Amino acid sequence: MSLFRKKENGERKLPVHIAIIMDGNGRWAKKRTLPRTAGHVAGSENFKTIARYCNKIGIKYLTVYAFSTENWKRPQGEVDAIMNLLRDYLKDSVNFKSENIKLQFIGNLAALPEDIIALMENAENESKDATGLVVNMAVNYGGRDEIVAAVKEIVSSGETEITEELISEKLYTKGVPDPDLIIRPSGEYRLSNFLIWQCAYSEFWFSNVLWPDFKPKHLEEAIDAFNLRDRRMGGLSK
Ligand code: FPP
Repeated sequence: MSLFRKKENGERKLPVHIAIIMDGNGRWAKKRTLPRTAGHVAGSENFKTIARYCNKIGIKYLTVYAFSTENWKRPQGEVDAIMNLLRDYLKDSVNFKSENIKLQFIGNLAALPEDIIALMENAENESKDATGLVVNMAVNYGGRDEIVAAVKEIVSSGETEITEELISEKLYTKGVPDPDLIIRPSGEYRLSNFLIWQCAYSEFWFSNVLWPDFKPKHLEEAIDAFNLRDRRMGGLSK
């Protein structure tokens, strides 16, 4: 029997790394006849709730998709609102420090507004010694963009012995184990350019719940489902 199956005594194995596509903010707002930006406010609050819960139950890594390389195509007002939420969160992120949560950012960060880059560097520095949950926040992130950047770096280094390990080391996620469980709420069944290299052996869990309504009990459902999966990683069942 696989290590990841629920044991007879009900003991569970936690995924080491959970990744979440925080989708459905717009529809959550529409259902309430609120502007889409209100959905992002609720989504950002929910991110904090879920991160704290992950820290509490002992998850080691949480990666969240906050803004993709394609999200710039949204109306300027919506892009600005998300950037402002990020600013607010980053200014406030010292709160996470006291909770022993480490913050890291992945994506093409150099293309972000300068004040956001400075706030991100500050948040990373302030929380670097935390030993609890590591939050990787993906901002201006795209999986293809990440792979292209890695290949460019390898080519310019002159390295000719190309291995999977070398590519992994050049990704924004270097040093972070691949996600065990990828969650997408809101009834969509796509990866949308999220962690496309890292997801090779990830388990996927989809839910119709919209992100702002995605509570710790839904995360628990996902972890329970994960425990019932037989992860053979290309091998045979134990
Ligand atoms: C997808 O929902 C969500 C986004 C593109 C942005 C996610 C951003 C946040 C949750 C806030 C970021 C800030 C922090 C601090 C984490 P959607 O807008 O595509 O929803 P829809 O599919 O219902 O329209």
